[in-house]
Amino acid sequence: MKQQPVLVFSLLILFHFGAFCQNKNVLYEGPPVFHGAQIVGNYPNTPFLFTVPATGARPITFTAKNLPAGLLLDPSTGIITGSVSSPGEYKLKVTVTNAKGNSEEDLKIVIGETLCLTPAMGWNSWNVFTKTLNEKMVMDMADAMVSTGMRDLGYQYINMDDFWHADTRDSIGRPVPDAKKFPHGMKYLSNYVHSKGLKLGIYSCAGNMTCGRRFGGYTYEEIDAKTYAEWGIDLLKYDYCYTPPTTKTAVERYSKMGTALKHSGRSIVFSICEWGFRHPWKWGQQVGGQYWRVSPDIMDSWKFPSIWVFSMKAILNREEKLWKYAGPGHWNDPDMLIVGNYGKGLATGGNGLYKGMTDVEYQTHFSLWCMFAAPLLASNDLRSMNEATAAILTNPEMLALDQDPLGEQAKPVYKMGCIRVYLKQLSDGSVAVAVLNTSAGEKKFDLRASMLDIQSVWRVRDLWKHEEAGAFKDKWALTVQPHQTIVLKLSR
Ligand code: GLA
Repeated sequence: MKQQPVLVFSLLILFHFGAFCQNKNVLYEGPPVFHGAQIVGNYPNTPFLFTVPATGARPITFTAKNLPAGLLLDPSTGIITGSVSSPGEYKLKVTVTNAKGNSEEDLKIVIGETLCLTPAMGWNSWNVFTKTLNEKMVMDMADAMVSTGMRDLGYQYINMDDFWHADTRDSIGRPVPDAKKFPHGMKYLSNYVHSKGLKLGIYSCAGNMTCGRRFGGYTYEEIDAKTYAEWGIDLLKYDYCYTPPTTKTAVERYSKMGTALKHSGRSIVFSICEWGFRHPWKWGQQVGGQYWRVSPDIMDSWKFPSIWVFSMKAILNREEKLWKYAGPGHWNDPDMLIVGNYGKGLATGGNGLYKGMTDVEYQTHFSLWCMFAAPLLASNDLRSMNEATAAILTNPEMLALDQDPLGEQAKPVYKMGCIRVYLKQLSDGSVAVAVLNTSAGEKKFDLRASMLDIQSVWRVRDLWKHEEAGAFKDKWALTVQPHQTIVLKLSR
């Protein structure tokens, strides 16, 4: 008898944990399922690389109808490569077949002026590893992106942040990587990353030095963009340390690099990182950026007030107001994910100051970033994720919200006490609703049709429990745990 409370408690924990646990093996069982972006942008006459994200039992075969001239699809990996010269919208039918069945999906390739038609998804070295970044680590992360199933769910970029640099540029001003950390050079690394169907990102700064005091990009924009293109780089995060503070200078310096990248001969995504101080959501797109940070650096903390570094909640408070600036090809960036670092990230743990967040808080962090159509850049050690972390980062239903081709950033529609409700329109006419409880106590809350401005009866699906939850008419009763976010998809 004495055992009973312990047993009940354990069962409750298991049930709660299981609610957002998604076994990796599940991804590779059953018939094929498509994920990720259904729309991909690339510049004309530049290398194209896209892996059709699909899970399901292996082996698996990919075929495509109406593939534009210049592109090839590898039938066993789903990796599309080549280059397209004529601008235009190419509508493909991709079929994926395995022993359990087949699945067909429309994929749109847009050859033109716009990249990142859905938010970038990938990994970045900074939050977890800071200056310990090196070649082996980058290769390991590319391998882990594949072995964890993340690539097949749509994650694409492996981004090297600060500290890839040698002490100085070469004698003609070209950037040089640290030979000890990157013994085979960048081209070797990009070949490896590309061979996995993934893309390689790099980091620099609009000042003379990066924030970590390595050489910056200021006055070297053309030579840097050209060299990055030669190295096979696909994304540049451009920081703003050691610079004059004015908006005018920022616009000039980011324009210079944006233009250089545009003329580099590759489709290089441009990520602006001036921490939101100069409202980059107003000029980021115009200088060639695909997304821009809205805040100082995220810390592994739910709520820690500071002006130089932000807690997850402080970023949320800023990001939620910026919904009207996001859309296909131009996104607000509330900074990388800290999911799974548990206070141990070298940049985000604040040398022991931040103890990290709980799995429920990480689930809230991830839910809201997906609702906000934010770039999803995991920044944990992908080689050693525990089950809860993997379940969060690989929840296909949440990823589908982030990658929805309509590209709408969720709007806050209700805020009362500690309950906040966010609403995101989806391209298939359904809506996603997130209900967040910011308090330290459990809350009962009735979601009402009037808050969502919807009529008639809607089908409700719980995107963390992965189950159909019933029919919504006027009211939906919820119990929200402390710091939890419940995410529902409502379809007619
Ligand atoms: C700044 C950026 C971080 C990271 C570091 C690297 O702080 O905001 O995301 O890139 O620089 O030094």
